[in-house]
Amino acid sequence: MRTKLTEKISEAVEILKLSGIVAFPTETVFGLGANVFDKKAIKKIFIAKNRPGDNPLIAHVGSIDDVEKLTSNITDSARKFIDAFFPAPLTIVLQKSTEVPLLATAGLQTIGVRMPKHELALELIRECGFPLVAPSANLSGKPSPTTWEAVFEDLDGKIEGILKGEPTEIGLESTVVDCTGEIPMILRFGAITLEQLQAIIPETIIYQAKPNEIAKSPGIKHRHYAPNARIVLVDQPGNANPSKYTAYVGINQSEQPEKFGLFEIFENENAYAHSVFRFFREADAKNIKTIFCQKVKEEGIGLALMDRLKRASQS
Ligand code: TXA
Ligand code: MG
Repeated sequence: MRTKLTEKISEAVEILKLSGIVAFPTETVFGLGANVFDKKAIKKIFIAKNRPGDNPLIAHVGSIDDVEKLTSNITDSARKFIDAFFPAPLTIVLQKSTEVPLLATAGLQTIGVRMPKHELALELIRECGFPLVAPSANLSGKPSPTTWEAVFEDLDGKIEGILKGEPTEIGLESTVVDCTGEIPMILRFGAITLEQLQAIIPETIIYQAKPNEIAKSPGIKHRHYAPNARIVLVDQPGNANPSKYTAYVGINQSEQPEKFGLFEIFENENAYAHSVFRFFREADAKNIKTIFCQKVKEEGIGLALMDRLKRASQS
């Protein structure tokens, strides 16, 4: 298959209307989009990414009307979060409507909905006239793509198109919050922080799987976000071993940066989050064997960043 690279929304819309799949930029990471109501197109997403069939997709909406179409019961908590944040890097899990194919939700009766805070993405969805299911546009298990070039690297020849755009603003995936029950539960950390959600609904909690319980967010159990290189988390740059084959990334300056094969220091947690997946891909391209990542405080965006770093280090 030839993958069409385009900057024209109309060309991406044309492909999507013909059951094709197209990668597009959002404020978090690039997504791989398909018509939420089109089973043939959704199947292609799972094949192109080599995604496990039990990992549900997020539906990207262009309006609150779309949310009504895709869900059967917008709970009070969901309503409050929608009013406070949409469009935002926030995915809200609700009971799905009967129109949503089970293929999109990997057999679940719930669906995650999110309105991206990104002009190109919103325009694309609105021009299509249907919401787009879109996982991150990477091969399953790899770091999420924050540039169209990263999408190309993973999916060239496997998808019909890539809508080019600028590198993504946030660099980590959206916060996922389950609003089906009485108390909202965070299933995945992201740019909308625990503190921000609790400012709207103070009862909001972090979901913790009980032993033997089926994972609420199936994606959580899969290997994730990992480069080929081994990831080692360190408190301080002094704990990293510098060599041609190792890399260091973090906030505090190392004493011997020139001794690493690759090295990057960020001004703050947001900048670190923004570029960490790009750094992982660069390290792989340079054949780095071990990446030392400095830990950050688990608050604000730091919760999301540490979540991704820990998962990457487990694989
Ligand atoms: O920022 C993002 O969320 C990006 C951009 C493209 O929007 N998308 C993204 O999708 O990260 P994906 O498929 O890579 O991750 C979706 C996560 C998975 O962990 C999945 O299990 C969870 O959301 N999820 C999706 N639908 C769910 C549902 N109905 N119930 C529980 N978890 C769900
Ligand atoms: Mg993903």
